[in-house]
Amino acid sequence: MRAHTHRRHRRWPGRAAAGASALALGAAVFAVGSPAQAAAGCAVDYTVANDWGSGFTAQVSVTNLGDPLDAWTLEWDFAGDQQVTNGWNGDFSQDGAHVEVTGTAHNATLATDATAQFGFNGNYSGDNAVPGTFTLNGVECDGTGGTDPDPDPDPDPDPQPGERVDNPFAGADMYVNPVWSENAASEPGGDAVADESTAFWMDRIGAIEGNDSPTTGDMGLRDHLDEALAQSSGDRPMVIQTVIYNLPGRDCAALASNGELGPEEIDRYKQEYIDPIAEILSDEKYADLRIVATIEPDSLPNLVTNVGSGEGATEACNTMLENGNYVEGVAYALDTLGDIPNVYNYVDAGHHGWIGWDTNLGPAMDLFYETASSHGASPDDVHGFVTNTANYSALTEPHFDVGDTVGGQQIRQSDWIDWNQYADELTFAQGLRDQAVSAGFSADTGMLIDTSRSGWGGPDRPSAPSSSTDVNTFVEESRVDRRIHVGNWCNQAGAGLGHRPTAAPEPGIDAYVWVKPPGESDGSSEEIPNDEGKGFDRMCDPTYEGNPRNGNNPSGALPDAPLAGHWFSAQFQELLANAHPSVG
Ligand code: BGC
Repeated sequence: MRAHTHRRHRRWPGRAAAGASALALGAAVFAVGSPAQAAAGCAVDYTVANDWGSGFTAQVSVTNLGDPLDAWTLEWDFAGDQQVTNGWNGDFSQDGAHVEVTGTAHNATLATDATAQFGFNGNYSGDNAVPGTFTLNGVECDGTGGTDPDPDPDPDPDPQPGERVDNPFAGADMYVNPVWSENAASEPGGDAVADESTAFWMDRIGAIEGNDSPTTGDMGLRDHLDEALAQSSGDRPMVIQTVIYNLPGRDCAALASNGELGPEEIDRYKQEYIDPIAEILSDEKYADLRIVATIEPDSLPNLVTNVGSGEGATEACNTMLENGNYVEGVAYALDTLGDIPNVYNYVDAGHHGWIGWDTNLGPAMDLFYETASSHGASPDDVHGFVTNTANYSALTEPHFDVGDTVGGQQIRQSDWIDWNQYADELTFAQGLRDQAVSAGFSADTGMLIDTSRSGWGGPDRPSAPSSSTDVNTFVEESRVDRRIHVGNWCNQAGAGLGHRPTAAPEPGIDAYVWVKPPGESDGSSEEIPNDEGKGFDRMCDPTYEGNPRNGNNPSGALPDAPLAGHWFSAQFQELLANAHPSVG
């Protein structure tokens, strides 16, 4: 099945047959041959693979029909006001309408008949005409004397209809959201990560069609899926990640991400949100995409720790426990999306500093299993779990294990760890996976870890374990997670980008992913009137002294933050500076 949309296509003429037989003589002939053997020449295929009115993605193939090139630069002039915003597989520069692209490490040289492929996103207004003339190292590419480079290969990887793979990330390319990418690229130094894959959040009904919110731009769900097809290289599957995030009474233990649906609006959730999403995702033309869905961050974990009469409980979470609408909504999402063979559901499971205590993990797993077995859902609808979504927990604490002792005292009894079974996300995710399998979920359950802000690099990162024999001093001086308290979650000062998205990094882990698009705020640091349903949570206020859920500690939040989900330039720059592994 071929799946092309919004394609504007222009192909330059192919080369004559003589060139093809020269190629058959093999490389040695070129090594001794005279330059006259191959005339200078090139062919270019420039395809507008996706166009959403104000922006576009172009895929470009350039084939060298002349002598081998040790370095190459392709140049063209745009006819309109197109502006390249970010590109991949090439170094880009633009001066007015004039663009130059130079091959990078893996495609820096171009043998005779070899093709280099690169792509870019751009903005434009008016008409998005395809450039008329290209030059390769100064020679006009008119396609003479060359073979057709087949620049438009079949993008479909061996389709296996109806069959999910064990790990959708393995061997796959990962979708780059152009809206986030452009925000990242517009920051100083942001180019270095602007080609990373981030999830796009379906954070309100309007996001399905596309609304003009600051972080979704005007791209709706279909636009993202079309763009994912456009970004597909043809020889590898493409994985695209979305976040299902619009439950009734959303974000019951906080205010920053309260949503549009009231606690009782379960029918609207089903009919106006999940059903239309499912209809789009089940469109046959997207059947070859691997669609990863993170299901409802924070919802079920909130029903574990923030209910009842304990001091962390909130009235709103008790309401959502009593009316059953989180459970019903999650089950409905799992069941409905689970019917689509190329959708992979990962249920949000909080993070180690929340669910890592046995007394929370046991009840959480019971709730996950009960939910996945209710309202028509089945545990088979759950492909795995995702931890650390939009949180800041360190992926690993390299200087201690939670089971170690220092000066005769257990690490676990330190104030920071506070008897938790886990000190970091990797061990937590692996432990949670084991428990999920024991609880009755599939033996192939896979884990995702949101590493977008788990890096904790920069000058304050301890480079070695402390030499103290006092367990509290030891942990304080050794831990890389520099938060004031592990319950702090809003725009954390000092955090850095974590591991770049990576498939199958560790046993049991399907991927490290960037679910929270780094640079998007967790919540405003003061009250900002808005029509998104978002409240002001004092955990985002740097002057706040805390509540029982963070042990009554200061919030650790950065100042001057915009509303949740809006671009927060200062935070992005700090995340970049404190990245671990470092960027660049
Ligand atoms: C916000 C969403 C946003 C998401 C990703 C959440 O905190 O409430 O509106 O889409 O973060 O940035």
